[in-house]
Amino acid sequence: MKGIVFTKFFEMIEEEKGYDLVDTIIEEVKPDSGGSYTAVGTYDHSEIVALIVSYAKHTGQNVSDVLKDFGKYLFDVFYNNYSSFFNPNHTAFDFLKSIDNYIHIEVAKLYPDAQLPRFKTEEPQKGTLVMTYVSTRKMADLAYGLIEKTLQHFQEEKSIIMENVEAGGSVVKFTIS
Ligand code: HEM
Repeated sequence: MKGIVFTKFFEMIEEEKGYDLVDTIIEEVKPDSGGSYTAVGTYDHSEIVALIVSYAKHTGQNVSDVLKDFGKYLFDVFYNNYSSFFNPNHTAFDFLKSIDNYIHIEVAKLYPDAQLPRFKTEEPQKGTLVMTYVSTRKMADLAYGLIEKTLQHFQEEKSIIMENVEAGGSVVKFTIS
């Protein structure tokens, strides 16, 4: 997982709970990498999972909710750091459809070692977008938060239904309508 995900996760904790909690969870998790992440580095995915689980424990939240909140936070990070991926004429659906066939492809060019999910998209009827998330990293809750914030960003009021297609969370269907 790219270091930017770790540094932004710590930034979110610092803003919401203060830097001491960042120290506490690093102390507790003792990541193999040592816990000092740089935005351009690449680290084992299991480290972010362990840090999220530890943070959830300290704040009394469940892990799903932490991932969803972090997804919303990351949306703003992406909007501020990668503004070229945002087309002012796009709708929320245009943007969401562009993740798999454009944005994540460009991200993979920038960071050849990035581990990105795949999304299959279809519009079974007007006003409904079905996105199927596929990733062995099982971070569909992060995707949920990113999609939720996308809808807010484009000021579109829509509901999101999330369903496991495969037990365990490596294939998850989002119906946005
Ligand atoms: C400008 C917009 C976006 C940019 C620049 C971007 C970029 C990235 C980057 C850099 C990573 C980390 C890859 C790694 O650590 O190796 C990532 C992961 C991820 N992205 Fe995107 N992304 C964007 C939008 C979205 C949106 C809107 C969604 C949700 C629909 C999404 C879903 C995910 C998920 C779930 C992951 C975690 C890895 C996984 O589940 O396999 N991304 N993205």
